Amino acid sequence: MSKPMQGRHFITTREWSTDELELLLQSSWDLKRKFYRDEPHALLRDKTLFMMFYEQSTRTRNSFEAGMTQLGGHAHDLTPDKLQVSHGETAEDTARVLSRMGHGISVRNCNWGQGNNFIRSVAEMSRVPVMNMQCDVYHPCQAIADLMTIREKFNNEIRGRKFVISWTYAPSYVRPISVPHSEILLMTRFGLDVTLANPPEFKLKPEIMAQAEANAKAGGSKFEVVDDMDAAFEDAHIVYPKSWGCLVHEPDREAAVKHIEKYPGWVANQERMDLTNPESIYMHPLPASRGAEVTDEVIDGAHSVVWDQAENRLHTAKGLMALTM
Ligand code: CP
Repeated sequence: MSKPMQGRHFITTREWSTDELELLLQSSWDLKRKFYRDEPHALLRDKTLFMMFYEQSTRTRNSFEAGMTQLGGHAHDLTPDKLQVSHGETAEDTARVLSRMGHGISVRNCNWGQGNNFIRSVAEMSRVPVMNMQCDVYHPCQAIADLMTIREKFNNEIRGRKFVISWTYAPSYVRPISVPHSEILLMTRFGLDVTLANPPEFKLKPEIMAQAEANAKAGGSKFEVVDDMDAAFEDAHIVYPKSWGCLVHEPDREAAVKHIEKYPGWVANQERMDLTNPESIYMHPLPASRGAEVTDEVIDGAHSVVWDQAENRLHTAKGLMALTM
C-alpha cells in the first residue's frame, strides 16, 4: 500500500492543504490511542531520523526522539558542534549527505533572518522529508499539537470559539516570534475566532497578519487585533498568553529586552482568567516563565491544559513522521 504523504516536507502548515492537516491529526490520534493501549506500532522499523538542533529544546527533542524509538526507528541528536556545519559545510551539502544515510531530517534553527532559509536549503537538496522543529518564523509542530489539544478539550466543537493569543512579559530571554505566527495562521483556518493582543512594539510580520486575515475571511471566522490584555481575555474560550521578541529589534537582544521591560503588567493571572468563559482553557507551549508570564495559580490551576498540550507534541511528531518518512 502506498503512503501518499511519503517524502513531503513539513516546513509550515501553509504548504499543507486542510485535508492533509486533517490526515496528520487523524494519524496522531490513532498513534495516541495505540500508545495508551500499549499496542505495538513500529511503523518506521529500522528507519533513521537526523535531528539538527541549533538551540535548546525539551519538548521538541524528546517528542521526536522518543517518537522514533516508539515507531521502531532511531533518531540521531545532532548539534552544530557535532557536524561540519561548524566548519562552514553548507546546509545543501549536509542535506545531500544525511539524506543518503537515513529516512528523514528535522531541524531547529531560530536564528533571526536565517533559520527558515537554512531549513529550506536543506529541503532543496534532501532526498528525504525535512521537518521544521521551529525556525525564526514558524513552529508548525507546536501549532498542530495545539489544534489537537483544543479539539480534544472542546470535543471537536471549536468553530466560533474565541481563541486569544496574547503577548506576555518575560525579560529573562527573548523568545522567537514563530509560535504566535503559526498559531494565527493555523487557528484561523480551522474555524476559531482569533484575537491577537500585543503592545505596539510586539507586532507580528505584516505578511503573516495578512495571511491570517485572508484565512479568516475564506473560512468564515474572525481575526482581530487589540492592544489590551483584559479586553482580549473577555469571554475567551482559549487563552494562549506567551512572550515573544520585538520584530524590529529582534537581532538586537538588549534593545528587545528594554522594550519587554516596559510591560510588566502583561501577565496571565487569576483576575484575567476570571474574565474568560467559565469553560476556558489556558495554554502555553512551554517553557513558561513562572511569575513573569503567568502566575503559579493559573498554570497549575483548573483551566490549565499545558501538560496535555506538551504530551500532544509526542503524538503529533509521531503522526508526522509516520506519514512522511
Ligand atoms: N514548545 C517547545 O517547542 O518546547 P521546546 O523548546 O522545549 O522544544
